[in-house]
Amino acid sequence: MPLSMEKVLAGQRALVTGGNSGIGAATARALAKAGARVAINYLFNEADAHALVNEIQADGGEAMAIKADVSQEDQVRAMFDRMLKTWGTIDILVANAGIQRDAPFHEMTLDQWEKVLSVNLTGQFLCAQAAVREFMRRGVVPEVSCSAGKIISMSSVHDVIPWAGHVNYAASKGAALMFMKSLAQEVAHLKIRVNGISPGAIRTPINRTAWETPEAEAELLKLIPYERIGEPMDIGHAVVWLVSDASDYVIGTTLYVDGGMTLYPGFREGG
Ligand code: BGC
Repeated sequence: MPLSMEKVLAGQRALVTGGNSGIGAATARALAKAGARVAINYLFNEADAHALVNEIQADGGEAMAIKADVSQEDQVRAMFDRMLKTWGTIDILVANAGIQRDAPFHEMTLDQWEKVLSVNLTGQFLCAQAAVREFMRRGVVPEVSCSAGKIISMSSVHDVIPWAGHVNYAASKGAALMFMKSLAQEVAHLKIRVNGISPGAIRTPINRTAWETPEAEAELLKLIPYERIGEPMDIGHAVVWLVSDASDYVIGTTLYVDGGMTLYPGFREGG
C-alpha cells in the first residue's frame, strides 16, 4: 500500500508500546517511514524487537528497542528515562500494548481479569501520564509540530461491541475509550492531542484462530461488510495521519478502522 504521507513526521520521536508484533510492529514501520525516530517497546520476544530495529535502520530510519512491562510503574519510568536521555524528548506515544485472556465468564479467574485490565488499561494510564508530563515540560516546538504532543490510545471495536467470552477484554477497551476521551478533554488546552484508534479484525497473532483456517476466515468475514480481514498496515497508516499535523484539529475522537465491523452487519438483510 502506498503511504502518501512520506516524511510527514520528520524530526519527531515516537514510542510504540507492544511494538514488536502485530499492529504495534506495523505502526512502528509506518511511523519510521513517515520520518519519525521510533522506540519499540516489548516485553517478550526480544529477537523480534531487535529484528525490527535492524529493519528500520536498514531502511534509513532510526529506532531502538526498550524492554518494559507497561503495567509496572518503575519499568515505565525507566523506559521513558531511557528514551528521553537518548533522544531528548518524546512527541508521539502510541499506547498499543494489549493482551487477551479469554474465558467463559463463570470460569474466568481473577488473574485473567486483572492481567487484562492491568496491561490494557493501567498500561495506558502509566504511559500516557509519563508522556503528558514530558509534553507539559517541553511545550510546543513549532518547527517540530503544531501540538505539544500526541497520544494514541489503541482500543478495539470491542469498546462498543459487546463480546461474550471476552468480558475482561471488552471491559478494558470500553474503559480505555472513556480514559481517552476524559484525558483528551483535560489536556487539549495544553495543545496535547489525545485520540483513539479502534481496529476491527486485523490479521495478527492475537486472533490467529479466527482467520487461520478457511472455515474460520469465512465465519469472520460474515462480520466484515468490506469482506476482507484487516492488515496491520491498515492501522499503521491510520496512526500516521492521526499523529501528524494533518489531523491537528482532531481531539478526543475514535477512528474505527474495521472494514465496517461496527455497522451491525447482521442488519444488512435483517431488521
Ligand atoms: C481482538 C481480536 C478480534 C477483533 C474483532 C480485537 O480487538 O483483539 O481478537 O478478532 O477485535 O473481533
